[in-house]
Amino acid sequence: MTDRWSWDYDGYDPGRERLLEALCTLGNGRFATRGSAPECAADAVHYPGTYLAGCYDRLTSLVAGERVENEELVNLPNWTLLRYRCLPADGPAGDWLTPDSEGLRHYRVHLDLRAGVLTRRMLFRDDRGRRLLVRHIRIVHMGDARLAVQRSMFRAYGWSGAVEVESVLDGAVVNAGVERYRDLEGRHLTDHRTGFGPEGVAGVSCRTADPGVHLAMAVRTVTRPVRTARQTATSTGTVQTYRLPLGPRRSATVVKTLALHSSLDRPAGDPLTEAVDAAARAPAFPALLSAHRSSWQRLWEQGELHVPGEAGHILRLHLFHLLQTLSPHTAELDVGVPARGLHGEAYRGHVFWDELFVLPYLTLHFPEVVRALLMYRHRRLPAARTAAREAGGQGAMFPWQSASSGREETQELHLNPRSGRWLADHSHLQRHVGSAIALNVWRYAQAAGDQGFLHGAGAELLLEVARYWAGAATYDAERDRYRLRGVMGPDEYHDAYPDATTPGIDDNAYTNATAAWVLARGLELLAELSDARRAELTERLSLDAGELSHWEDVSRRLYVPFHRGVISQFEGFGELAELEWDRYRDRYGDIRRLDRILEAEGDTVNRYQASKQADTLMLGHVFRPAELYALFGRLGYALDDEVWRATVAYYLRRTSHGSTLSSLVHGWVLARQQGTGAWEFCREALLADVADVQGGTTGEGIHLGAMAGTLDLVERGITGLEAGPEGLRVAPVALREIPRFAFTLSFGGHQGVRLRILPGRLGVRVPASPAGPLTVVLPGERRVTVDPGEEHWFRLR
Ligand code: BGC
Repeated sequence: MTDRWSWDYDGYDPGRERLLEALCTLGNGRFATRGSAPECAADAVHYPGTYLAGCYDRLTSLVAGERVENEELVNLPNWTLLRYRCLPADGPAGDWLTPDSEGLRHYRVHLDLRAGVLTRRMLFRDDRGRRLLVRHIRIVHMGDARLAVQRSMFRAYGWSGAVEVESVLDGAVVNAGVERYRDLEGRHLTDHRTGFGPEGVAGVSCRTADPGVHLAMAVRTVTRPVRTARQTATSTGTVQTYRLPLGPRRSATVVKTLALHSSLDRPAGDPLTEAVDAAARAPAFPALLSAHRSSWQRLWEQGELHVPGEAGHILRLHLFHLLQTLSPHTAELDVGVPARGLHGEAYRGHVFWDELFVLPYLTLHFPEVVRALLMYRHRRLPAARTAAREAGGQGAMFPWQSASSGREETQELHLNPRSGRWLADHSHLQRHVGSAIALNVWRYAQAAGDQGFLHGAGAELLLEVARYWAGAATYDAERDRYRLRGVMGPDEYHDAYPDATTPGIDDNAYTNATAAWVLARGLELLAELSDARRAELTERLSLDAGELSHWEDVSRRLYVPFHRGVISQFEGFGELAELEWDRYRDRYGDIRRLDRILEAEGDTVNRYQASKQADTLMLGHVFRPAELYALFGRLGYALDDEVWRATVAYYLRRTSHGSTLSSLVHGWVLARQQGTGAWEFCREALLADVADVQGGTTGEGIHLGAMAGTLDLVERGITGLEAGPEGLRVAPVALREIPRFAFTLSFGGHQGVRLRILPGRLGVRVPASPAGPLTVVLPGERRVTVDPGEEHWFRLR
């Protein structure tokens, strides 16, 4: 049985190994290493991988007769590799042992979430009854983000002799973690230099081709009993071989301490020299472990979300992986939110709109990390401006998939594994990513009270996105409305009208409504700037009164289509054919990837009223009902509870949930409107990765948006929490399955405000500090205050 602070796997199941590797990944926000078995290099079962945040490389591949470029997060040398075999005193050397060895008798993987420690225990037995117990412990250091350690312990039962151990630093790795990308070039590392420094430190340096990052890994191997190694350097790696005596009461240990440096580090230095130095100087294992635990303890305090029961157990795992991908160390880096964590190679480590689901949790707990993640976008404003200009537009057009440079990284072709066909990929038409950035800028600034950011880099981001929308909107005289044509919505199934020769659909309701919101916020923001800052910005961005009155006009008259009393996902959605859902479910069982099923049948999902994921319903995730109705009101549309409920019911019946984000959003929307079936979706969102509900995708990397989104579902979704200038606004809804929980947040100059939710009651504790009282706005606009050093309980109904 797992306790609530651990995540365990018992018994060896090769078919589950990749999932386990992803869910047992260890990281510190700067780099991460998959939870793979140290004994194994990449093969059909095992896929070791180490990824450095922000380290991408671009290669050209030939697929389906076309040259395509792909920039991807680079798999770094495997520092964990450790090979060993028994050398019994009374017989020949045994085979090299791995979890796949016939003699494996016991296999247990234990992830200690509190301490960030991964333990793997294996027991081998040969045909003469000789047993070897092996225990590996691994950490990726949360205190010193350059370091990681792996300690392996060997114990013999029923025999004596020695264990021969090879401590390997393997630079002959490629990116090959995703089967669908097998036709893409994955050889990123070149110019390897290998060798040995003093104190048994092995080093490998290499570089990526484009943009040319220099990487260095140094590993110090120390054994007990102390032995010197036989050392071999190959062209891509190093091997250090030890012979360690074993026998009754004589165990042996091998500790590999890794230091990872790169030319992305600041201050800059020679990565190899720095890595070798850092590995040589790193403290011994016990001291490293103790400092690592302390760092995790601080993170758990600052990030606290306590939910009892199994849901809480999964949420803790989600939080663990979020903090390993985006930690306070991330605030020092120029990186965005990788959709699949630093846990695998799916989506090539790219940054999508998923930060919309990730930043709200971080804003309440680690606001400095959010600011840094938004600065990643700000540094790429010039690239987004160029993209807008090249597309004949204005302002900033952010890419759907972003990586190092900020240019569009969405693949031009994608493989349908069902049909084996490479298909044109138009998902870059998801321009709504710009609104997600603007929404994040605004929400972060409101919650963190960071006016400096909002009026500085934040304003530039928001205004340039607004400007893009104003420029992209075309006036339709017949409707007397502005339209955004040729786009794709969050539902990635519809990339064109049936039989159309050009890609894109028109007037995606989510895109248009959020664009109107951005324009309105842009105007509001300009109005609140100081005269000097407004003058500076309008001059720098060449914004004149004429352009701003155009924004005002567009923000009030963007077109949002409706049909049969509901919001249309896009113009014409209601005229598409109805899918016979039951027929497809009967025939295929799992129809999450309906798009692939239909394409393989020679049909296309573009013909049907069938959505991959929440699209129109995203509006209910992003906006409170009152906010949403006001936004529609500003656009001249009457939206109320009745229309919204009908809209929710309409799309619920027409969505296949082909993205982990889908159940999350549906769970949120239904929970907020206290609708039936909310828990079913929330539960599915909780299970998304741990049960790998999208069928094998988690092994290729966690779904960070869904993981972080579930934390936010509890903190803001159930609580109805809004942190803003007026204080903490709460409007809890009851979710029977999560009736009580608590979390700690930073707000209004207070660190460590603790909210506790019980059925019908809310507790607020404000830690003692010189800051002023905290204002809480309870349902019914009841304003109360809590003084620092006090805790108050409030009735909610
Ligand atoms: C989803 C997108 C998401 C992307 C990366 C896709 O499957 O449809 O909404 O941004 O995955 O997580």
